[in-house]
Amino acid sequence: MTAPALLCDCALDVYERALNRAALNRAALSRLPLNQAPLNGPPLGQAPPSQGPLGRDAPLVLRTADGRERRADPGAWCADRVPGDDGLLDRCRGATLDVGCGPGRLTAALLGRGQPALGIDVSAVAVRLARERGAVALRRDVFGPLPGHGRWETLLLADGNLGIGGDPATLLARCRDLLAPHGRLHAELDPPGSGSWSGVATLHAGGVADPYAGGVDRGAPMRWAWVAADDLAPRAARARLAVSTTWTEAGRWFATLVHA
Ligand SMILES: C[S@@+](CC[C@H](N)C(=O)[O-])C[C@H]1O[C@@H](n2cnc3c(N)ncnc32)[C@H](O)[C@@H]1O
Repeated sequence: MTAPALLCDCALDVYERALNRAALNRAALSRLPLNQAPLNGPPLGQAPPSQGPLGRDAPLVLRTADGRERRADPGAWCADRVPGDDGLLDRCRGATLDVGCGPGRLTAALLGRGQPALGIDVSAVAVRLARERGAVALRRDVFGPLPGHGRWETLLLADGNLGIGGDPATLLARCRDLLAPHGRLHAELDPPGSGSWSGVATLHAGGVADPYAGGVDRGAPMRWAWVAADDLAPRAARARLAVSTTWTEAGRWFATLVHA
């Protein structure tokens, strides 16, 4: 099955520079004495629009061709835990594939709980950072050849990763093929009533001037999507999956899908 998420590899440039910066900041912060470390901001869902989930200025902005904007904070992806992760991790059973693992926050947390987990990501920087924090991670496209086809007991599509490829029903169908017959897919969603979108978008470096960017602060176009909790069922049905439960934690929304 082919549904490339990225229209070209250079779509990753802005993302990878932001990840590198966030990882360096995190490493510098971990060397600060506790009384000098900045406090986390408001929980996810309560942060102002210019901020990411941990309340810090969000250095990545996703802009759609029709003018919508979403902000993301790679600092949160590089953190050990984001509010709302616990319920998601608690629901993971058996061998878990973290699709679009980024710097491996969830994969590493599962391994820390003694659970088998593999992260996959198309970004070489993300995979390197995931491995540096002790996660098992491979540089792979979710639509390409993967180990454990049809045997994964849990799949994760966290942090908006239902958007990978820009067609959630196609991504869900691919995930269904990867899942064991009794397997479960946990996906993070937008809040109900907030609307869904799919199309072409570009990633922009917001806020922080990057001396290594050479003046380029905008990635190449890529296909992306987001899905509100109340729009999931028809997309799941097209992929021959059914929504078995939904839950919300710390302002984040999630659903579990099983074979229909
Ligand atoms: C929103 S970030 C997710 C961050 C991650 N969940 C974390 O906790 O750090 C989306 C991730 O999906 C990855 N990605 C995009 N297209 C992909 C594909 N076709 N296959 C695998 N990973 C992909 C990106 O490189 C990026 O790391």
